[in-house]
Amino acid sequence: MTTTTTAPMLEARHLVKTFNAVRALDDLSITIAAGEVTAIVGDNGAGKSTLVRCLTGVHSPDDGEILFKGEPAKLSSPEDARSFGVETVYQELGLVEDLTVWQNLYLNRELTKPIPLLGILDRKGMIDKSSEILERLDVNVPSVRTTVRRMSGGQRQSIAIARAVTWGESLVIMDEPTAALGVRETAAVERLIHSLRDQGVTVLLISHDLDQVMRVSDTVVALRRGRAVAHRAVGDVNGDQLVGLITGTISGDD
Ligand SMILES: Nc1ncnc2c1ncn2[C@@H]1O[C@H](COP(=O)(O)OP(=O)(O)OP(=O)(O)O)[C@@H](O)[C@H]1O
Ligand SMILES: [Mg+2]
Repeated sequence: MTTTTTAPMLEARHLVKTFNAVRALDDLSITIAAGEVTAIVGDNGAGKSTLVRCLTGVHSPDDGEILFKGEPAKLSSPEDARSFGVETVYQELGLVEDLTVWQNLYLNRELTKPIPLLGILDRKGMIDKSSEILERLDVNVPSVRTTVRRMSGGQRQSIAIARAVTWGESLVIMDEPTAALGVRETAAVERLIHSLRDQGVTVLLISHDLDQVMRVSDTVVALRRGRAVAHRAVGDVNGDQLVGLITGTISGDD
């Protein structure tokens, strides 16, 4: 775990987001420390995805503020969030099956050769860098020249994470990254999250799997009915307490 005295990577203060009569976020505040894996847990409908959508510029909160590295940020679109270095791995991954691994890693961010005006794609540069990226993250694929269609679920998830890490300079958000995976594939993705943590990448993980949360995160935040009811170091909480915080049998800090 990296300890830091600088401003948190991200702070959300008093966020409110309503959908007609539903208060999906109800005065929610959360702090995400730089270089840590912060997990968000909560029951169905607690507000996790709504929070992610507010942090990624998909939704505009009705009230409250978001700060990156101490600076207030107005996120009106996903492009705004990207400009702050926020990348998200969604459940559906957003990979293009018929493209190769390296083409997916550089999708919409293609490298060109340093020849002015011509915009010639630097294929070799992208292939070499893709191999380097996957090696650094310890992601195993047969070859970066293979199409994603031929990859397993775990390999696809790892490629989507690798892409987010490559472009997400500030924060990588993962919404249920292993929900659709088998045991071995889940283990591989968890190893990848561990290695990101070792490399000081800041991660926000949404997961229903409390054992996984205990294995891979530094800090866990419990959401209940649109509020963050507890912020705990993972070492200071056990699975039963987390269940109590999520369901409300333990009241939390709020
Ligand atoms: N676009 C929307 N329109 C109307 N209501 C919404 C919308 N998005 C979310 N909600 C409501 O807001 C509340 C929080 O939903 P959200 O999707 O954030 O929960 P969640 O914690 O991600 O749940 P899950 O674990 O099931 O994914 C729910 O009551 C949901 O029905
Ligand atoms: Mg959700």
